[in-house]
Amino acid sequence: MSELVLGIESSCDETAVAVVRGGREILSSAVESQVLEHARYGGVVPEIAGRSHLRVILPLVDRALADARVGLADIGCIAVTNRPGLIGSLLVGLSAAKGLAFARGLPLVCVNHIEAHAYAATMETAGEHYPSLALVVSGGHTALYIARSPFELELVSRTLDDAAGEAFDKVAYLLGLSYPGGPSISKLAATGNDRAYDFPRCRPKRGKPAFSFSGLKTAVLYHLRGQDALAPTPAPDAIPDRADVAASFEAAVADSLVGPTVAAAAELGLPRIHVVGGVACNRRLRDVMRAKAAEHGVEAIFPSPAYCTDNAAMIAGLGWHLWKAGRLAGLEADACPQ
Ligand code: KG4
Ligand code: ZN
Repeated sequence: MSELVLGIESSCDETAVAVVRGGREILSSAVESQVLEHARYGGVVPEIAGRSHLRVILPLVDRALADARVGLADIGCIAVTNRPGLIGSLLVGLSAAKGLAFARGLPLVCVNHIEAHAYAATMETAGEHYPSLALVVSGGHTALYIARSPFELELVSRTLDDAAGEAFDKVAYLLGLSYPGGPSISKLAATGNDRAYDFPRCRPKRGKPAFSFSGLKTAVLYHLRGQDALAPTPAPDAIPDRADVAASFEAAVADSLVGPTVAAAAELGLPRIHVVGGVACNRRLRDVMRAKAAEHGVEAIFPSPAYCTDNAAMIAGLGWHLWKAGRLAGLEADACPQ
């Protein structure tokens, strides 16, 4: 029987299709980003996202099959993200997946996008992967889970307000940097002084890990326009210390993610931390997390950047485990935004 899974992802602003063998061997991973379509709005516009997925999804299936040098007849199962995400976007991928499964008589599995991000950390390395503490940090999510297997995740804590990626995107906007904010802040931060400003860090509350980024974002805002709440935010070219602000902000985000995560891993006695999602691309986060985790005898594992951001290899990978566990979906399967 074929061990190949075709994965489809369309939950937000990336359309992606991948072919993965046996849950791990990535034969192809095609991603079509909509970043340029959303850039001038400073964030994802759901209506534009849905239409764009619709335009590219089937050509992308062809491209992923061609890249993998296989045909649909070689595929054993179709895996698709059905939650959480933008409902109109999810429905495009789910409908395409159902159509392919029905037409080819293939089993269908529905994958949780967050669980798939966490699974991505296990795809490129051999050896033991579980149990682990999974830190999912993306544009829409900042949460910690205990992962006992690819699809057994228990929520430990999630952000009280903004997601870390959202904070990067909003602060980038204040600094006049391009969307998405994470990469552009990182680039500017490399030329700045990360100790120039002592922006607030979130700390565990009553012993429980807690994440919060709205206070940090407000601190940057007040730094830029002074304490007068009615004063306008200065134009980007009138901010002389932009690089120092970017570097100090990035340092505050990294510390805010690393402190509670490493403390939780030590407290829970978990030997490894999987750091996943778009923000896991961040160089500084990777360095600080690895160093702090090592101080506690904990290993910090990151997917390579292409598998931190949204992709379908993680969907096909986790989909294989769901398929083998018999967790199949029917054609009545629905998408769910939460
Ligand atoms: O996982 P992802 O591709 O999509 C979601 O599921 O949200 O994550 C996108 C987020 C964006 O907020 C982007 O600014 C952030 O990941 N990001 C980064 C970096 N690259 C992407 N944040 C910090 N540093 C980066 N290098
Ligand atoms: Zn994602």
